[in-house]
Amino acid sequence: MDFEKLIRFEHESFIKFIYASVMVKDEAAKHFLNDVALFKYRHMLWSMQDAVNKNIKFNMDFNEREIEKIKVKTEEDLLEVLIDDLDQNIALYEGIDDPTINRLRSDDQYFLEEIKKLELEGEITAFNEHKELPGIDLDENAKSALTFFLMEETFKEYELIVIYSYLKVHTNITVAQSAFIDLAYDSIYHLKRFATLASKMGVLTLPKPIPHERYKNIGIVEFLKENIEEEMNAEKQCLILAEKIGNEDLKNFLLFISRQEVYHGELLKRALEAINKS
Ligand SMILES: [Fe+2]
Ligand SMILES: [Fe+2]
Repeated sequence: MDFEKLIRFEHESFIKFIYASVMVKDEAAKHFLNDVALFKYRHMLWSMQDAVNKNIKFNMDFNEREIEKIKVKTEEDLLEVLIDDLDQNIALYEGIDDPTINRLRSDDQYFLEEIKKLELEGEITAFNEHKELPGIDLDENAKSALTFFLMEETFKEYELIVIYSYLKVHTNITVAQSAFIDLAYDSIYHLKRFATLASKMGVLTLPKPIPHERYKNIGIVEFLKENIEEEMNAEKQCLILAEKIGNEDLKNFLLFISRQEVYHGELLKRALEAINKS
């Protein structure tokens, strides 16, 4: 089995589905696409774990042209892209009988049947740069600060998901594994919330592949120390924006995220302690 290709396909699927979930307007469709995204994330992680168990090296690159495919004008076209994606995944599993692949195939076949039942006809407005949040009045300063924050932070959250996932499957210290997986899932949640806001404002930006040196052959202790600082910086960015935003709901949301970032620092400290002791 070509693990690098398998991991890349699951990774591209995860990105397409999580972004699609914030691009469509129908609530039930959002939920469904988000559920699929979370399963595609796990498919990616299981494929990565299987590769590690077999001593197969891989990177976390994805094909940018694949991801660009979701930049379409209508929800109908978006569904078409997602159906195509699942079709391609299922084709990749053909003739392989293996517990992980059997699970992936079964999930994807079910998702494919379900997604074909969706009827969406809306326009995609996630990239139109209109910079308004429905029902929320923001002054120009707050708007540009929020736009900048969302672009930066969606990118960073995506990067963290990749790095924490890679570290998770490449460590055998249980405490560290558990911290990395919690951090990855919290980052997926942050990505979803930030991308939802960006999509509503028409300023959604798609992720870029992460340079290999950000996750391959890194000194893990050094990395963890640096990332504890990153998490503290993320907290600070949320606090700064919360002060300027001038809207109670957004402020509370940013403060909630900032307190989660503090806990991320704590999880990393626990991982660091466990690694130092081993
Ligand atoms: Fe975060
Ligand atoms: Fe964080």
